[in-house]
Amino acid sequence: MPAAEPTSAATPDAELQMEALSALCARRGFIYQSGEIYGGLGGFWDYGPLGVELKNNLKAFWWQRMVRERDDVEGIDAAIITHPRTWEASGHVEGFSDPLVDCRACKRRFRADQLEGVPKCRAKPDGAHDLTEPRDFNLMLQTQIGASLAASSRAYLRAETCGPIFTAFKRVREVARQKTPFGIAQIGKAFRNEINPRNFTFRSREFEQAELEFFCHPDERAKWFEYWREQRLAFHRALGLDAAKLRLRQHERDELAHYANAALDVEFLFPFDWQEIEGIHDRGSYDLTQHAEFSGKDLSEFDETSRERFVPAVIETSIGIDRCALALLCNGYREEQVKGERRTLLRLSPVVAPIKAAVLPLSKKLGAPARKITAELRRSWNVDYDESGNIGRRYRRQDEVGTPWCITYDFESQQDGQVTVRERDSMAQQRVASEGLRAYLSERMEAETGP
Ligand code: GAP
Repeated sequence: MPAAEPTSAATPDAELQMEALSALCARRGFIYQSGEIYGGLGGFWDYGPLGVELKNNLKAFWWQRMVRERDDVEGIDAAIITHPRTWEASGHVEGFSDPLVDCRACKRRFRADQLEGVPKCRAKPDGAHDLTEPRDFNLMLQTQIGASLAASSRAYLRAETCGPIFTAFKRVREVARQKTPFGIAQIGKAFRNEINPRNFTFRSREFEQAELEFFCHPDERAKWFEYWREQRLAFHRALGLDAAKLRLRQHERDELAHYANAALDVEFLFPFDWQEIEGIHDRGSYDLTQHAEFSGKDLSEFDETSRERFVPAVIETSIGIDRCALALLCNGYREEQVKGERRTLLRLSPVVAPIKAAVLPLSKKLGAPARKITAELRRSWNVDYDESGNIGRRYRRQDEVGTPWCITYDFESQQDGQVTVRERDSMAQQRVASEGLRAYLSERMEAETGP
C-alpha cells in the first residue's frame, strides 16, 4: 500500500507559481499534456525536446553515481510486463490499493485520505459532497496478452520497477559474480492507476523510477540503511536542490508499505507543500522469501564465514525521475527585475541543464566561426546555436530554459581569438580564448558538481 501523504490545500500563491511553471514548460517544450490535441489524458505527460534532455541528464547522473562508479552495484533493464505471478508474490494484486470514495450526487471520485482542497460538489447547492464509505481501489493497470480475453491472459504493467529485480536476483548475482552485500539497479517506467493525478507531473499514472535494491545480510540492515540515506542525500545536494528545501521524514509504523520494516522519505518543498521525491526502505527479507515461495526456487545464499544459509534482506532506494525533475524545475524557477525588465530564470545545475551552453554570434555575418565553435563543443555537450534577434532577447531565451553559459562571438573575437562567456545566474561576463573553451567549460562544470 502506498504511504499516505500529508495533504494540504495549495495557497493561491503556490497555484500561481505552478501555473507559471507549467506554462513555461509547455511554451518552451519541456513538458505538456499527452495527447493535447484531443484535450489531454489525465495523469499522462509528454516530454518535449528540452524535457527529454533534462530527464536523460538526470537519469545519466543517477546511473553514473549508483552503477558505474561502484563495484558493488549491477544495472539491468527488465521488461515492463513480466510474469503476473511476480505481482501476486509481491502482494500488489492483493493489496496495492488506495481508499476510494464516490460522491453520490456529482459522481466524482476521490482518494479518501486526500479530501482537503478538492473542488466543491456541483450537484448540490451547499457544495458538500455526499460521500460513500471508503473502499479499496487497486492501482495496478491491467492488460491482456495474446489473442485471448480469458482471465489467464491477464497481465500487469508494473507499479514499481523493483519486481523484476527480485525475480532476476539469482541470475544477476551469478552472471556478475557478486555476493551480498551488493545491489541491482534499474531505471524504467512504472504505472499506477492513481485516483486523483494532480500537481502537474507530481502524481502521474505513468512515470519513471530509478531504483536500487541492495541485498545484504539481515543482521546488517541498519548499517546499510544509514549508509544509503547519506548517499542519497548527497546525491540530491549534488543536483543543486537548495538545502533548505530538502528534508528527511521517517514513516510512522501505520504508514509503512506492506513490505517495509522502516522507511524514510526524501522530501522537497514544492510550492504546494513538502512532498516525497524519493523513498528509502528497509524491506527486510520479504521480497526474496515471497518469490522463493511462489516460484519454488531457492533464493538463499551461503555465508562462507558463518557457514550459515540465509535469505538476503533488501535496502531499497527509489527515486521518481519525473518528481525529481519537477523538483529541479520548481527549485530553479525565478522571476526577477533586471534594469526595469522582467527576467525569467531557471537555475538548473549544469549536470541536468538541457542545454549546457549557447553560442550567439553578435551578427549573422559572424556565423561561420561561431558555428565552428558550436560544432567543437557539441562533441561533448548539447549546445544551442542562435543568431536570431537582439543579443538581450537571446540571453533571455536561454535564461528561461536554464542554459548555464552563453558564448558570444563578436567582431573583436576575429582579431583576438577570444569570446565572451556570460553566466546565467550572475550575468557576469568574462573573455575566454576560444581555443580553450572546451577545457574552460569542463572545469566550470566539475567545480559545480564534483569530478
Ligand atoms: N519500490 C518502492 C516504491 O515504489 P514508492 O514510495 O511507492 O516506493 C517511489 O515510490 C518513488 O516513485 C516516489 O518517491 C516518487 O518519487 C515516485 N512515484 C510514486 N508514485 C508516483 C506517481 N504516481 N507519479 C509520479 N511519481 C511517483
